[in-house]
Amino acid sequence: MENIMLIVGSLRKDSFNLQLAKEAEKYLKDKASVEIVDYSEVPLLNQDIEYPAPAKVKEIREKVKKADGIWFFTPEYNHFFPGVLKNLIDWLSRPISKTEGQVLTGKPAAISGISPGMSGTGIAQDHLVTLLSFLNMDIMNLPRLTIPNAMQQVNQDGKLELTTSAPYLTKQADAFLAFIRNRK
Ligand SMILES: Cc1cc2nc3c(=O)[nH]c(=O)nc-3n(C[C@H](O)[C@H](O)[C@H](O)COP(=O)(O)O)c2cc1C
Repeated sequence: MENIMLIVGSLRKDSFNLQLAKEAEKYLKDKASVEIVDYSEVPLLNQDIEYPAPAKVKEIREKVKKADGIWFFTPEYNHFFPGVLKNLIDWLSRPISKTEGQVLTGKPAAISGISPGMSGTGIAQDHLVTLLSFLNMDIMNLPRLTIPNAMQQVNQDGKLELTTSAPYLTKQADAFLAFIRNRK
């Protein structure tokens, strides 16, 4: 079974992107081993504390090493992806030690996002593609999932209830599994 790590670019407890990741987790749970990574305790990157890496960073690096693929769910903040996600990726981009390189190289990556606005996080995703490709990740560019007008698929309690976007999410999940398998 493939091991897929889900990383959500929002720390908000009712985050739509977290809810989207949970939908993906639900769909994938019989097909892959899936974990939504909690990185809320990862400190701001400061080279003064880089070596030895903070425990939480070490723990997430180990998970990334074991993962067959990473699926990002990102909000859009000012046409960019959020700083918390950049901070995590900056940590992961650093070599582990003088002999071990960074953990993202060659890792398959998928990208999705949901926003209340019209862009559906597309512009943020383009920036994320630029960063992940600089870090040599193996990005699945097709399909990517952009969900605009989130409120049309959110109920009165703020819960995401995917309607029109549901088939696109499952299609992307299946495509990512195939993408990973083709690279093994
Ligand atoms: C600092 C900031 C900037 C934002 N900029 C954008 C934006 O550029 N485009 C957009 O569609 N939504 C923007 N939003 C609204 C977010 O899409 C919205 O808050 C969304 O719910 C965040 O994702 P989450 O629900 O996963 O936390 C912004 C929100 C914040 C806090």
